[in-house]
Formats: sequence, C-alpha cells, structure tokens
Amino acid sequence: MSPRRKFDATLITVDVHLAPETMHHALRNDAQAGLNAMPKDIPPKWFYDHYGSQLFDEITKVAEYYPTRCERSILMTQAATIAEVTKADTLIELGSGTSDKTTVLLDALRSEGTLRRFMPFDVSEQTLRAAAALISTNYPGTEVHAVVGDFEQHLHTLPVGGKRLIAFLGGTIGNLEPAKRATFLQDVANQLQLGDHFLLGTDLVKAPERLIAAYDDQAGITALFNKNLLSVLNRELDADFDHSDFTHVAAWVPERQWIEMRLEARRDLEVKVVALNQVVRFAQGEQMRTEISAKFRRDRVESELADAGLTMTHWWTDPDGDFAVSLSTPST
Ligand code: SAH
Ligand code: TRP
Repeated sequence: MSPRRKFDATLITVDVHLAPETMHHALRNDAQAGLNAMPKDIPPKWFYDHYGSQLFDEITKVAEYYPTRCERSILMTQAATIAEVTKADTLIELGSGTSDKTTVLLDALRSEGTLRRFMPFDVSEQTLRAAAALISTNYPGTEVHAVVGDFEQHLHTLPVGGKRLIAFLGGTIGNLEPAKRATFLQDVANQLQLGDHFLLGTDLVKAPERLIAAYDDQAGITALFNKNLLSVLNRELDADFDHSDFTHVAAWVPERQWIEMRLEARRDLEVKVVALNQVVRFAQGEQMRTEISAKFRRDRVESELADAGLTMTHWWTDPDGDFAVSLSTPST
C-alpha cells in the first residue's frame, strides 16, 4: 500500500516588504511626528502587533461590534454572485488579518472553478503567516502568496497577472483619512485591468449610540486594544507609558462622519521615549488620537470610487442596512 500523505503539497510564498528594521524605522518616524503634533496623533497600523491582531479578533466577537457579523452575512448571501460576476482566478485581500470571512469568497470561487491563487496582504507578519498556512492547508492546490507590506505604500509591488479580485473588507477603508483614502483608491485602481474587480466593505452611518458602543464595548476589549498601542511604543521605542495613566475614549465626530479613538491622560504626565531621546508631556485630560473610523452612505462610496476611475456595479447591505459590501470595476 502506498503511504498516505498527511498534507497535500502546499504552495506558500511570502514576500516581505516590511522587514522588522524597516518597521522599526517607520514607527520611530511616526512616533516622532505624532507625539510632537498638536493634538497628538499616531497612525492606526501600529495597533497590530501579534497581540493587537489577537485583540482585534476578540473585538469582532463582542456583542456591540456588529460590522464583522453583518459583513459575513452579506458575503454568505452574495458570494456565489460575486464569483459568477468576477470569475476571478486571483483573490488579493488587503488588510487581511486572519482572513476568517474570506473563506466564504474562496469557497465560492472554488465552486465557480476559477480559483487559482490567494494573496493575503497585511502589516502584521505573524498573523499573516498563520492565516496563509491555514488557508493553504484547507485549499489544497490553491497557490497562497502572502505579502507583508503597507497598503498605503506597497500596492505597486503586487505580482502581476491573473484575473483579479481585490478585496478590502472589515470597513478598514474608514481608517484612512479622506486624502489618503483617495490616494489608496487610486493605487487600487492602478492595479486593475478591465474585467478585474474591487470588493469593498464599508460601515454605514447610523445612530451615534450604536457606533460608540461598537468602539467602547462593555467588556473593555476595545480599550485593551487601544492601549496596546502604548505597549508597542514601550517595546519598540523603549518608552515607559503606563496603561493605567490613560482612559480609552470613543467619540462620534458629526462634521466628519467618523468615530475617533483616543487615549486620554488621567493626570499630568512625563513619558520617557528613549529611542526618540525625548520626554513627552501630556496635560491632564489631553487626548491623543489613535484612530478614525469613517462611516459612509452609498453616494459617498460611489463617488469616491468614481473619482478613482472605478464604476460601482453592485451594492449589497445586510437587512438592517448597517454595513455594505460593494463591487466595482475599472471604468471604460
Ligand atoms: N480584514 C479583517 C481585518 C480587519 S482589521 C477583517 O475584516 O476582520 C485591519 C487589518 O488591516 C489588520 O489585520 C491590520 O494589521 C491591517 N492593516 C492596518 N493598516 C495596514 C496597512 N497600512 N497596511 C497593511 N495592512 C494594514
Ligand atoms: N477596521 C476596524 C474598524 O474601524 C478597526 C477597529 C475596530 C478598531 N475597533 C477598533 C480600531 C477599536 C481601533 C480601536 O471598525
């Protein structure tokens, strides 16, 4: 009897555009600028060390955080249509994280008979590698090509070819400020040929109470996630932030239609940041902004896509209209 293979041959490649030294350098620059800005402001990609990615995964399971559940239900209802319309052989997922919901798309593309390659793309290397390994095991014969990179910088490094579907889920687009969002969408459009597609998940405007609850859950997981940024700064920049000196704040900013995550100093503070050779001062009550999460209406999504040269062909929401997934394609 011939021996049984325990695993099918797995085809995983990992491109690393953000080696640890590069990351360290970028964080140093961002911290230098952000801790000296008025108001203080640190970009959100630094939440996601391995622990931060695990905490985000926990957030997706708390009762108040509806986006993940809504997006998953939309994907489950629409995946077959998405596969039929796109007939994609290459699924590229930006900000892929654990790629948990993405299996719904992979299953549909496999059933459609077109799936050849999956390319998860994320800054969080450990989480990305784990997700790539799991998918490679569960989708034998599908090439898995993971990319460790910053989607604001490295989209042009994606290997060419294939009939592509670029997916950007989780409402992560809302974490980019409007000008950066426009640049990002332009970069995505530049990756697409006629007949390729872009699948975008966007969280929708709704009652501020529900939005705030989603970013300030009772169990305090989001607070831990927000404060994990301080641990990243401590570890990477040899700083001495103390979690107990800060309060997690989630605020709805109506003029900008976005939720802001902030860390508020509970008292006057001096924080040593050795790698910056600096002492950073916080006044009691001072708030450092750690993230925005913009909420959308259909017309805004459609017009921002159009500005980047993409035509929206489909718009799907969950029955309550809390979250939307849209499909677009390069404009002719
Ligand atoms: N798509 C998943 C995860 C969303 S959380 C979901 O829908 O649940 C946001 C993800 O984007 C994290 O995995 C984070 O590491 C990644 N990310 C954030 N900023 C990034 C950047 N600038 N470049 C690449 N990945 C980024
Ligand atoms: N992309 C997620 C969102 O905007 C990220 C996120 C969820 C987040 N909860 C958070 C970021 C809390 C910072 C703090 O919904």
